[in-house]
Amino acid sequence: EQPRPEGLAQAFIIGREFIGSDDVCMVLGDNLFHGSSFATQLAAARDNVTQHRLATIFGYPVSDPTRYGVVCLDATGKPTNIEEKPKHPKSNLAVVGLYFYPNDVVQVAQSITPSERGELEITAVNDYYLQQQQLSVISLGRGFAWLDTGTHEALMEATNYVSVIQKRQGLVIACLEEIVSTSPASKRSDSKRACLNPLLVLRSEQIKPCKGADAPFFRTFDALIRLHA
Ligand code: G1P
Repeated sequence: EQPRPEGLAQAFIIGREFIGSDDVCMVLGDNLFHGSSFATQLAAARDNVTQHRLATIFGYPVSDPTRYGVVCLDATGKPTNIEEKPKHPKSNLAVVGLYFYPNDVVQVAQSITPSERGELEITAVNDYYLQQQQLSVISLGRGFAWLDTGTHEALMEATNYVSVIQKRQGLVIACLEEIVSTSPASKRSDSKRACLNPLLVLRSEQIKPCKGADAPFFRTFDALIRLHA
């Protein structure tokens, strides 16, 4: 539990025992992601970390970048600059609330100093990896929906988005029953089926809530990818 809102990066300090020697991803509880190729992009982020030791974040074009972390990319897609809520943003690419890191993020989070607003900023962590040339950015472009629900207006917009898509398609977004019934584990008929049920696994082992302003939580990479597949 995060006793005071002292920044997203504090999650790695508070959660260090849960993380242990694993690589880690963090998702902000007020962010909503929806898009058909998302599972592939999540798998690419996991591979970046596990195979290349690259911290991996996601960029999304927005009309109001001053509200977010903002990243600049060069012509080859490599990040050149990252800033938290800049008054004069150098690009319109917001950093979404989903972060994949190698295990040393725990030490990185311990090494950064609080910002002017008194928070251990996730952008300072990302800037550390950028300076080390260990930061990769995956662009979530047209056709992908990233919404946050941090203000009343944004929550209303997200509600309308989900309503429109669900009504039009007749498919439910992030339907846990569907995820369980279509997972390979659910097709097992032996006695291990119950313990392989992803819902049970997610509940018992793979989600560790971390109460705070943004309620960040950790999931194993594969559980996250399965949830969005
Ligand atoms: C936080 C991060 C910011 C990121 C945003 C995504 O902002 O600090 O870099 O773009 O989440 O939702 P905050 O929730 O502190 O406004």
